[in-house]
Amino acid sequence: MTFDLTLPSDPSLAPGEARCPGPGPKEVVQGEADGVPALLLKDSYAFLGDEDIPFSRYTSQEFFDREMERMWCRTWQWACREEHVPNPGDYHVYDIGPYSVVIVRDEARQLKAFVNSCPHRGMQFCDAGSSGGGKQFLRCPFHGMSWHLDGTLREIPCRWDFPHVKEDSFRLTEVPCDVWEGFVFINLDRKAEPLASYLEVLPEHFRAWNFGDRYVALHMHKELRGNWKMCMEGFMEAYHVLATHPEGLRLSGWANTQYDIFGRHVSRFYQLLSSGNPHYHRQLSQVELFEALGHDPKDLPEGVTARQGHADILRRQFGEQFGVDLSGATNSQMLDSVEYHVFPNACFFPGITIPLIYRFRPLTVDSCIHEILLLHPVPENGPRPAPAEVVKLGLEDSYTTAKGFETNRLAYVLDQDTANFKRQHAGIKASLKPGETLGNYQEARIRSFHKTLDEYLAFP
Ligand code: FES
Ligand SMILES: [Fe+2]
Repeated sequence: MTFDLTLPSDPSLAPGEARCPGPGPKEVVQGEADGVPALLLKDSYAFLGDEDIPFSRYTSQEFFDREMERMWCRTWQWACREEHVPNPGDYHVYDIGPYSVVIVRDEARQLKAFVNSCPHRGMQFCDAGSSGGGKQFLRCPFHGMSWHLDGTLREIPCRWDFPHVKEDSFRLTEVPCDVWEGFVFINLDRKAEPLASYLEVLPEHFRAWNFGDRYVALHMHKELRGNWKMCMEGFMEAYHVLATHPEGLRLSGWANTQYDIFGRHVSRFYQLLSSGNPHYHRQLSQVELFEALGHDPKDLPEGVTARQGHADILRRQFGEQFGVDLSGATNSQMLDSVEYHVFPNACFFPGITIPLIYRFRPLTVDSCIHEILLLHPVPENGPRPAPAEVVKLGLEDSYTTAKGFETNRLAYVLDQDTANFKRQHAGIKASLKPGETLGNYQEARIRSFHKTLDEYLAFP
């Protein structure tokens, strides 16, 4: 074993106070003279308890139904990107469990979200998951009633038979819709708090990342075996790097990852991926680290750290690849794995080399859809590229088979992550122990997520 994993817990510390010894992200990046966004250095953690989390939350049909009835219909979820509906008449359908919403851009270029169900006899206007353009109005395929794109009634065939229908009250059912950094969010609760307050610190924290100036370079859609929460939680901690991603252990201080809980809806991890591991059995020299990062050791300038040299090379490489000037991007923006989770089901990695967006949607209590978007910067001298078409992957398909992702190192990492889920799902079902036992710090985001979920489920 090349790591010292035997450090005992310290009884003099209060629960949740213990941290892995060695420099974490703060210590490593705050000496960098590149203007690290101050909000990256802000930490926010509170001990939330250490009781086991019942496995039934992942396996019970009744719990799943309660999530549908009380949580999914009352939370903001991103439904698509603005570039999926750029012009008047464009539409996109977002489905979550039994709920379905059509997002349209109307003639005034406003985005509207309507429940995908005809006020007449409930027919869906558009197929689940579909999108397209050229609509001048929404026409129901059953009897042909139609509505303008702003939701007002346009026509009822055989109007004489509906004298009791008042134009004003026979509008499409509109639900809240708002945009943050190019992501179109919807909420099925017509009394929902505004998106801006729901997102808590997110708008402030993302101001430095130029997230609106990104486009969807790749969009994958894969079915996973396992409850949606179980799968999502596999991406909310770096504790699993030791056993699941051993190839990264020399380079990543995985156990020194910083975890932050900013509020009910937003949490974060901040993991250094290319600064070496303080717990590797011997410290790599900067030249060795630079070589381990895939470079010729002779290319590391005198007096420059491997992290700095690596970031300088990536700024040039990615700048050329994307057609953007990345000279102002900080090392942490270039290199580190920074993930924000937004309750209930989205993860945003704003980095340049890890530009991932995840969304998890339940199919059944035992399965879910995991969507992954790669967001690349829009070229400075070119038009905004159209968003990538969805690549669908089956239960057993590797991410390395997705066109455009085959040689991306992240594809292998995602295969390692998702290979766990089949076993974890089976193991949870087989367990005679009633719940899972979480680490106080490294798995605190999972506990926080369940706490917020309980708050939604408790609501009448
Ligand atoms: S169900 Fe839509 S027009 Fe009849
Ligand atoms: Fe992972």
